[in-house]
Amino acid sequence: MRAIGIKKAGPAEEMKLVDIPCPTPQSNEIVIEQSFAGVNYGDTIRRKRGLFELNEHGYFVPGFEGVGRVVAVGNNVERFKIGDRVSYLNESNGGYSQQICLKELLAYAIPDSIPDKTAAAMTCVGSTALCLTELANIKEGNWVIVHGASGGVGQTLVQLCLYKNAKVIAIVGTQEKSKFLERYRPTSVIVRNEADIKTQINDLTHGKGVSAIFDCVGNEVIDLNIDCIHKKGTILYYGSTSGHVNFPGMQILMKSLRIQGFNIFNVLEDSNAWNITTGKLISLVNDKRLKFHIDRELKMADAPKAHKLLEERRSIGKILLNIK
Ligand SMILES: NC(=O)c1ccc[n+]([C@@H]2O[C@H](COP(=O)([O-])OP(=O)(O)OC[C@H]3O[C@@H](n4cnc5c(N)ncnc54)[C@H](OP(=O)(O)O)[C@@H]3O)[C@@H](O)[C@H]2O)c1
Repeated sequence: MRAIGIKKAGPAEEMKLVDIPCPTPQSNEIVIEQSFAGVNYGDTIRRKRGLFELNEHGYFVPGFEGVGRVVAVGNNVERFKIGDRVSYLNESNGGYSQQICLKELLAYAIPDSIPDKTAAAMTCVGSTALCLTELANIKEGNWVIVHGASGGVGQTLVQLCLYKNAKVIAIVGTQEKSKFLERYRPTSVIVRNEADIKTQINDLTHGKGVSAIFDCVGNEVIDLNIDCIHKKGTILYYGSTSGHVNFPGMQILMKSLRIQGFNIFNVLEDSNAWNITTGKLISLVNDKRLKFHIDRELKMADAPKAHKLLEERRSIGKILLNIK
């Protein structure tokens, strides 16, 4: 089968289209023939930093989400049969390929009402944003900041926070992204680097600051976060596109802040929690309360282009690889 293989850490061009044998399922595993795979910012980090091991064929195959039909089941598989349509999240990767083999507990059934492209786009960013908004414990009228608001997770957070009647300050990198975000009607959109953000946030919140900050940027925004959050507020730290933050102990102590780290792969360790999360995701999509904007669809061979678009911050929403 065709897949994208990497042999060593490096730039996007390290990813090549390769031919490897189709997988055979072991006990509790299923094999999915994919139609689309989702591309995530996390894929670029793993590739660049070499956070992977090579498989028995000498390659690392990136990608931890996608959609397709079950084509083989191992012993003791209880939840799926051949022909079922499923999505998944798989920390071991393998998504940029025609077929993927994984534990059945990582997959979930997709109803006919949800098209393939949405199903491929929603799993990672949707489940992450859902869990983060629940951890933030947002109440009606609370002010929140969403960094990287035009990204895959960012757009989903904006929609979920507005759905909880929070007042959302969406922070983006360009005017184009700001214009795009207006479709969700956030309370305010601020373009980073173009204005005095602290003053704007201070004015918006009448000097009180915000209750919660969703931070996927890290180092570049820690001073802003500490200045704009009010006492006893929560910073949800789930990404570090600009590098990790040094622990600001003094400020955390003085404002009685809660710093909540989050990693979606920890949710997968509890199959009950994963079932609940994917169930909520499906109902929100079915009820048209959540939309997943697809920036573009590329051929599998164009995976290097997809990574460059994410790294150069030129995408708005999800990029999909068409595997068919
Ligand atoms: N912890 C978890 O479980 C989990 C799960 C999923 C994703 N994540 C993390 O969440 C973040 C977003 O993921 P995604 O897949 O939604 O990615 P994405 O669509 O590429 O969004 C990333 C956003 O980050 C913003 N950004 C700010 N500073 C950046 C910088 N220095 N370099 C690159 N981008 C920068 C970009 O917006 P502007 O250009 O507008 O600033 C971009 O919209 C990533 O950090 C990812 O690792 C974490």
